[in-house]
Amino acid sequence: MNLLLILFAIAGHATLWITLVNRLHARPWPEQWLRSLRHVHDAFLLGFPPILLLGAGLMGPRLLLDGKWSDAFWLWHVLFGICWLGGIRLIYVSARHMLTRNPAQLSKEEAHFIDIAAEFGRRPVDEGPYQFMAKLPLNEQFRVQVTQKTLALKNLPAELDGLTIWHISDWHFSGTIERTFFERVVMEMNRKPADLVCFTGDLIDRMKCVDWLESTLGSIQASEARFFILGNHDWNKQPDPIRQRLTDLGWIDVSSRSMEYEVRGIQIVIGGDETPWMGTRPDFSMHDNNVFRLLMSHTPDNFDFARQQSVDLMLAGHTHGGQVQLPLIGPVYSPSKHGCKYSSGTFFEAPTLMHVSRGLAGIHPLRWRCPPEITRLTLKRG
Ligand SMILES: [Fe+2]
Repeated sequence: MNLLLILFAIAGHATLWITLVNRLHARPWPEQWLRSLRHVHDAFLLGFPPILLLGAGLMGPRLLLDGKWSDAFWLWHVLFGICWLGGIRLIYVSARHMLTRNPAQLSKEEAHFIDIAAEFGRRPVDEGPYQFMAKLPLNEQFRVQVTQKTLALKNLPAELDGLTIWHISDWHFSGTIERTFFERVVMEMNRKPADLVCFTGDLIDRMKCVDWLESTLGSIQASEARFFILGNHDWNKQPDPIRQRLTDLGWIDVSSRSMEYEVRGIQIVIGGDETPWMGTRPDFSMHDNNVFRLLMSHTPDNFDFARQQSVDLMLAGHTHGGQVQLPLIGPVYSPSKHGCKYSSGTFFEAPTLMHVSRGLAGIHPLRWRCPPEITRLTLKRG
């Protein structure tokens, strides 16, 4: 029993650190600060279990031998109490993960996979950071889920019934995953072009990869338009040249503004939100209330803002679905003030329907039970 209580405390301790790290990573802190925080987190996560097992289990109060809790020094009680609270939180987030259901607005969902490593006969890994992760067994980074979702939206004009959007996010060009991987994904998208393409940020992790844009995002077809915003990883590099190259390739930058755009002869409003890292929030108040509103935000943390602005559909990325999802527990790491609550999927809180993409890559090229994805949305009136 004491061993179980110590293991529960170890799990709770990890939960508390991860809760803190997730929330602090939602802030616009310099990368160096966040990296230092992760080092502290790593040290505690690895160092604390032996301290607890040895310090409380085999020495001190000897809880794994013949010791009693009542004889333990009061500081052990405080420490275990805090850790058990973390354990209770772990039970709560696991239950939330298992009980969360898709909203009724997601009326249909289908998916197929493209196993790019199998097609190529090798994993497309090149020179870049964290190559070892890309080569780990069971890594699903190179098996891309192509998802088709039908979303029912009350305020969608009849003329836009059936409008299609490729929602893509977080491509993270770093040089570790080869350009050919992304070109293969673009080929898949162009087999079934959509009316709109929306990219919700985190494109470049290494500036030399800006040269990849022409054969990747620059080659994606759309019958109406392609819109983009950037994310915190672009902010950490040089966002201005990235913006310029994408704009030169015909993409429309919607960051920090809301604009009216005619689709199928109907005006809609499209806004882009790169806060808290860059720019300002788009102002929707200047537009007619009845016009369909689409918000592209890098982080799902701007969901409340979207609701305040009566946004009909919000598209986001950033959280990558956690990249690794554990059985029963679900995603663990998700840089959001809400932790893993909105790490990926479809969410409705009136009047806004939000779609959060798991993204296609990451600076850490590792996925498990959380494949990279591209999503083709079909909007239906209703
Ligand atoms: Fe990202």
